[in-house]
Amino acid sequence: MRGSLKLCLSLLSLSAVPGVFASEKQLFERGEMSQPQYTLPPLPYAYDALEPHISAQIMELHHSKHHQAYITNLNAALTRQAEAVQTNNTTSQASLQQVIKFNAGGHINHSLFWLNLASASAPETNSSAAPELIKRIQATWGDEEKFKEAFSAALLGIQGSGWGWLVKVGSGDKQHLSIITTKDQDPIIEKDQVPIFGVDMWEHAYYLQYQNGKAAYVKNIWNVINWKTAEERFAGQVTDPLKTLKDSVWQ
Ligand SMILES: *[C@@H]1O[C@H](CO)[C@@H](O)[C@H](O)[C@H]1NC(C)=O
Ligand SMILES: *[C@@H]1O[C@H](CO)[C@@H](O)[C@H](O)[C@H]1NC(C)=O
Ligand SMILES: *[C@@H]1O[C@H](CO)[C@@H](O)[C@H](O)[C@H]1NC(C)=O
Ligand SMILES: *[C@@H]1O[C@H](CO)[C@@H](O)[C@H](O)[C@H]1NC(C)=O
Ligand SMILES: [Fe+2]
Repeated sequence: MRGSLKLCLSLLSLSAVPGVFASEKQLFERGEMSQPQYTLPPLPYAYDALEPHISAQIMELHHSKHHQAYITNLNAALTRQAEAVQTNNTTSQASLQQVIKFNAGGHINHSLFWLNLASASAPETNSSAAPELIKRIQATWGDEEKFKEAFSAALLGIQGSGWGWLVKVGSGDKQHLSIITTKDQDPIIEKDQVPIFGVDMWEHAYYLQYQNGKAAYVKNIWNVINWKTAEERFAGQVTDPLKTLKDSVWQ
């Protein structure tokens, strides 16, 4: 209950963050609670930009239907959560927390995913766009190819739905790179982990084009990884627009 209240209060502060949710906010009848409304971020490229590696059909469905559904469900759950706080319904608050975590996770993950992809013909997909990150990758895995092999093996090792991420862990002398995978609704990456890039291994990310050819999807994804945004995230130059959401849901 305290947690839910904290969630509610920290969501209030979201209204100060431009671009995080749409301008319309509603005050509930008897309270001060505002209703955050997240909106689907536009893709920074056309649906067919990742062809032939990821088809336009997949990109359109994945973005306009799957990502949108996480946002729609998140907004609905936040509205119901605010109502449950108003009515002191702790049972309802507890069950909504799970729904909020799942859908906030989907919104955060997909928002990152779109930005860590780019057209194979764009200069961003040449790993020379990430000089510092590649140096660290070489120091950690030996060379870029060995890193890709390790990351691909981790992706293919995920049973069922999940994500694979390259993350920067810790800070100062202890800072290092790591490959992590998560399944289904496992908690989102730890607070000391900064995602550099991630790969969606849910079937909806590849099935229409690759069917059960998961390995081909994983092989081809390397052609469309945006190394420029990876370098920026590695350098800590990116302020995560959904950080407040993340901090409020995973306290
Ligand atoms: C909810 O609980 C708070 C404090 O515990 C109380 O002040 C408030 O009147 C309650 N609201 C309702 C609708 O029961
Ligand atoms: C709390 O909310 C749940 C789900 O919305 C509802 O079924 C239940 O009756 C509510 N409990 C109270 C005490 O209002
Ligand atoms: C979002 O990513 C986290 C971290 O990898 C993962 O645990 C969670 O299952 C993902 N959620 C969705 C809905 O994809
Ligand atoms: C990637 O960039 C490097 C350095 O700018 C260049 O030598 C190389 O040819 C590029 N590779 C591709 C596939 O374009
Ligand atoms: Fe997805």
